[in-house]
Amino acid sequence: MIALTIVLFSGWTHRDDNYLSAETGTGYILGILGGSLMLVLLLYPISKRIKLMTRWIPIRYWFGIHMMLGVVGPVMILFHSNFHLGSTNSTIALFSMLLVAGSGLIGRYIYTHIHHGLYGTRITLAELKQETEKQYSALSDIRAMDESLIKWLNHMEEKALQPYSGMFTSLQQVIHLAISSQRLKKKLNLMTQDRESKTLAASISRYTLALRRTAAFKSYERLFSLWHILHLPLFIMMIITAVIHIFAVHIY
Ligand code: HEM
Repeated sequence: MIALTIVLFSGWTHRDDNYLSAETGTGYILGILGGSLMLVLLLYPISKRIKLMTRWIPIRYWFGIHMMLGVVGPVMILFHSNFHLGSTNSTIALFSMLLVAGSGLIGRYIYTHIHHGLYGTRITLAELKQETEKQYSALSDIRAMDESLIKWLNHMEEKALQPYSGMFTSLQQVIHLAISSQRLKKKLNLMTQDRESKTLAASISRYTLALRRTAAFKSYERLFSLWHILHLPLFIMMIITAVIHIFAVHIY
């Protein structure tokens, strides 16, 4: 990430030094390479559909290659353009590519919230509920201790375990739970003095975290399916504008 920022920053600061030209030499080659790499990264969505491909190379590697080339390809194109906006067709092609790559980064973020890491299996709601129950059963001592805590936790449970009722309501619940957890943490910090109560406070934190993850999961799942719906047309737009750009620069 740091290396990428440095590369982009130095490219940007030297953009008027005329080291690169999109029409000739290295600049032209970077355009061909960047564009080709963005075609190669399509092997990931293709491998999801053609099972034979995942027999040679596991899908997680295709996905890793996809994400890597999804960054390297657009960076090469940025150097090909020398960080300048040219004609209308090249500007539209460039912004379409940046939109797709940016959308990919957002997709990656959402993806990690509904999978076990980047290369793990998909998380299920049943798994999260099981984890919540596990953390709940570790709380029996606290329930015997403080009435206000019980009320607080019941309220959080109610919010977290509600069935999904739309994106907006779900996001509201997630924010509400995050604020409640923070307040609860402060309250617990004031209450906990000895080692035993500190252990209990840690159990409460684990439980509220499990509740928040369950509540957020539904929103992330929905967000991810919305993201898929948006990502595909953006990608098609990028292909069309890139083809127009390539034809335009070679014809005129
Ligand atoms: C110009 C660059 C990129 C292009 C052309 C591209 C294209 C695609 C396409 C066509 C899909 C399949 C969509 C579908 O199945 O509905 C996809 C999925 C995805 N891409 Fe990219 N992408 C690019 C960059 C990136 C980057 C930079 C990242 C993250 C670092 C990324 C992360 C993802 C993720 C997380 C998925 C969904 C995976 C899944 O559902 O299995 N992409 N991309």
